[in-house]
Amino acid sequence: MRKRQRSMFRRLGLSCLLIWPLFAMAATANNAAPTPPMGWNSWNHFGAKVTADDVRHAADELVASGMAAAGYRYVIIDDGWQGSRDANGVLHPNAKFPDMKALADYVHGKGLKFGIYSSPGEHTCGGFTGSYGHEAQDAKTFAGWGVDYLKYDLCSFRTRLKGKSLADQTAMMQAAYRKMHEALEATGRPVVYALCSYGWGRVWEWGAEVGANLWRSTIDIEPGYQSMMFNAQAQQGLERWAGPGHWNDPDMLEIGNQGMDNPDMERTHMSLWALLAAPLIAGNDLAAMSGDTRSVLTNPEVLAVDQDSRGAQGRRVWQEGPVQLWAKPLADGTLAVGLVNTLDHPLDATLDFKALGLAGAVPARDLWQRRDLGLIDATHTFDVPAFGVVLLKMGKSATH
Ligand code: GLA
Repeated sequence: MRKRQRSMFRRLGLSCLLIWPLFAMAATANNAAPTPPMGWNSWNHFGAKVTADDVRHAADELVASGMAAAGYRYVIIDDGWQGSRDANGVLHPNAKFPDMKALADYVHGKGLKFGIYSSPGEHTCGGFTGSYGHEAQDAKTFAGWGVDYLKYDLCSFRTRLKGKSLADQTAMMQAAYRKMHEALEATGRPVVYALCSYGWGRVWEWGAEVGANLWRSTIDIEPGYQSMMFNAQAQQGLERWAGPGHWNDPDMLEIGNQGMDNPDMERTHMSLWALLAAPLIAGNDLAAMSGDTRSVLTNPEVLAVDQDSRGAQGRRVWQEGPVQLWAKPLADGTLAVGLVNTLDHPLDATLDFKALGLAGAVPARDLWQRRDLGLIDATHTFDVPAFGVVLLKMGKSATH
């Protein structure tokens, strides 16, 4: 077997793939996320103040901006929509969301999918009502509204874990997350199931087993370069847990938000998320989006790297000081390559072909410039902008 793999990769000229995880975990039961989910979530821009009108406008803008056509399908309301339970325990939205079913219908009417947020604890992180003790009832309520995506955030469930052994904590989280998975399954409605436990309990090891399609593997992202790089780099080593149907989630995009509003940083953010096969959930104010932000979010060649059907999560294959080299093998046998400059001034850099498993002269295409570079070898110099990236597709069929 080993010999066969080696000669196959040598033929492809991609010997580095030998160390890529060859057998991703078995896919989860539902077929809701064969590629990383793409959409928009209210939290990063609107926080808990989000209203039904904000969500309606986001749906309008997703379509008008071309983002929906580019693949962003899920419109997800994060924390802040919940009101209280009635005498029968049924959870109702608060006054900012007068008619959730009508809102879901509106989103569906635009050809989009509708997502919502809850917690396995009594309270969400924003202090709103959680699903603890009402899992089956809430799953039915959500299905009745037409929910297609649930973000299920640990939040106050953490207080139940206090004083417990690590093994017990993990078992309790697994049971809580499995409970909602089973409740969603029982509704018969296909729902993308997104866990949010910030990496607690090594969630990547068991997320797929409890029915999740994606799981947050880091603390919350903030709109800044350092936070974005921290979350990207924390994915290193988690490659084997991602694959079609089940994804590591380094958190939502900050592209277009204040603090992440320099196009070079935005391109680095987008390139790394694409290389990592990360869910692409935009979190900006779509109505106020600049042309630059829009083109970063919708570049079809970069999105194709993220959405590649092979579903391999890329990784950092080389680093020297401030320069990092990331790579991700694609279904067509080519390699997506990100050359990242973490300095605050431009840098000339070359590719370490050995680390990439490449040799000689290789066809390459620049995915941000959308330009064929022809054959390049290890001496080819790239001018990488401050906090910027060069994103390439390399290999036999990389050029157009
Ligand atoms: C946590 C999550 C965030 C967001 C907030 C909402 O911090 O990690 O993504 O959902 O809760 O309160």
